[in-house]
Amino acid sequence: MSWRDFWNGDNPIYVSPRHKALHYRQIAKDIVGHIPAPDAVVLDHGCGEALSADHVAAACGKLYLCEAAPNVRDRLRAMFGQLGKGVVVAPEEVEALSEGSLDLVVANSLIQYLKPDELTALLGLWRAKLKPGGHLVLADVIPPDLGPLSDASQLLGFAWRGGFLKAALAGLVRTAFSDYRKLRAQYGLSTHTAEGITALIAQAGFERIERVPNFGHNPQRMAFRARVPL
Ligand SMILES: C[S@@+](CC[C@H](N)C(=O)[O-])C[C@H]1O[C@@H](n2cnc3c(N)ncnc32)[C@H](O)[C@@H]1O
Repeated sequence: MSWRDFWNGDNPIYVSPRHKALHYRQIAKDIVGHIPAPDAVVLDHGCGEALSADHVAAACGKLYLCEAAPNVRDRLRAMFGQLGKGVVVAPEEVEALSEGSLDLVVANSLIQYLKPDELTALLGLWRAKLKPGGHLVLADVIPPDLGPLSDASQLLGFAWRGGFLKAALAGLVRTAFSDYRKLRAQYGLSTHTAEGITALIAQAGFERIERVPNFGHNPQRMAFRARVPL
């Protein structure tokens, strides 16, 4: 099994429907906070199930939801088929978008699953598809010193606040025996120092690279915002 197979199947990342709903509600709110104008064209790359994408779509002119896993894309299409401003796309379809056509690209909790060459290629792709003055936001970037224990304690805090603590405790036990733990041990997750990811973003041709508050529930992970030169 690879990460791609893992995301294409039923995964144990979310410990309950409430966890999943609260997670995606928060991510949608965080994305909306970066939308520059009501007519902005936005790409959410590696969007996952994006359960609150309707909130994001309502705040922008057009929303591309890009997801690599075909089963997840099917679920997104079933859910957001009626969403006038939302388009579900595969990664190859992002490559086909016109150069300089996007105002904002967000990728939350994506780059830890990418190898260095895949990340470099995606940074170049996003740079090409963004308009001059457009922004990239990379969120949930994992620093090298953060391990699964810290993820577990942040999840428990989120669960306590969100009223799904019992499900989270059971979920952590399930995860310990799951493919996720095995894949994490086998393939690892890509980690980045703030300096390292800043240098990669700069090499791709972005400017004004800054740390911003992370998306979602884990402030120990990092987020960065960068601009395409005008
Ligand atoms: C941890 S989930 C994050 C989902 C969502 N962004 C969120 O904040 O919850 C990572 C998602 O990225 C997708 N993915 C992985 N590699 C990708 C790629 N190269 N292009 C598009 N999607 C990708 C996976 O299939 C998975 O749904």
